Amino acid sequence: MSELNRHWIVGPGALGRLIALRLATRASEGVEVALLGRRRLAASQTLVTPDGTPLTRALTMATVDTPPSPPPDVVHLVTKAYAADAAHRTLAAHLPPGTPLVLWQNGFDCQPRLTERHAGPVLCATTTEGAFVASDDRVVHAGHGQTLVGALDGGHRALADALARRLDGAGLPARAVGDIRARLWQKLAVNAAINPLVARFRIRNGQLRDRPFRPMVEAVIIEVAGIMAAEGVAPPEGEGLEGWRALVWRVVAGTANNRASMLQDVLAGRPTEHRAILGPLLAAAARHGQEVPRIAALQAELCGLATNLADPASPC
Ligand code: PAF
Repeated sequence: MSELNRHWIVGPGALGRLIALRLATRASEGVEVALLGRRRLAASQTLVTPDGTPLTRALTMATVDTPPSPPPDVVHLVTKAYAADAAHRTLAAHLPPGTPLVLWQNGFDCQPRLTERHAGPVLCATTTEGAFVASDDRVVHAGHGQTLVGALDGGHRALADALARRLDGAGLPARAVGDIRARLWQKLAVNAAINPLVARFRIRNGQLRDRPFRPMVEAVIIEVAGIMAAEGVAPPEGEGLEGWRALVWRVVAGTANNRASMLQDVLAGRPTEHRAILGPLLAAAARHGQEVPRIAALQAELCGLATNLADPASPC
């Protein structure tokens, strides 16, 4: 596997810009980065590192319907989950067949579809890197995390290793794994127990530990654990319901002061990623003949939010 030097990052949100700016620090090794969005951003972008150091880089900026040339060694799709299909459709026409694609979306919605549809190898990535775009448009790398990459069927190992090496060398600790499908479902399980409730009640993660929210979280965990058991996905530590319960409450404690991503979307008037997070759970429950009234109710409530009703890309 040759080195991955030319990267296109599609989706200039906080995570997309973080990846772009970290990769751009390896320019002396031949790494070239282009950042693509629906509109062209300012070429000069600043990242504030976790120790507070500002790092400014000039990036190639382009739009998805007029991408730069030459073609990339790899494309990173870092859009919101509900925008991934449309971005891929627009971009695919400009990519030579065989171009590797990396999907960075939350949930488990577009991953199987785009793995099937893309004319080239597809990897999925899941990360615990924390970043946000500050009011002065600088990207703040709030905390270091870990990125895992792999193909849904565990294949493309050399590509996953090369990508992990490239990210790691750019300051984003990363590792290739053979079980990315289980890792995506584990993250989805945590997201399903936290995100919809904090978005609906507009609370910080830590408040889920208090009444009246704690029993609501517990009820969701029980339904999620049942679906995971039927899907054959085990929690990362421990077993069954207790393992899922321990995982969710550990993440709640570790992120107590956070406004979770779905709450941030609601507060910013953006559509939420409920379809990518709750949708796969509802579909799996239906496949296995399981009743999941709490998850179904959360999905209905999120569908009814004004920002979701207004957005045709996020139908229910
Ligand atoms: O979506 C998020 O914000 C995060 O995945 C999590 C774990 C819910 C913490 O806020």
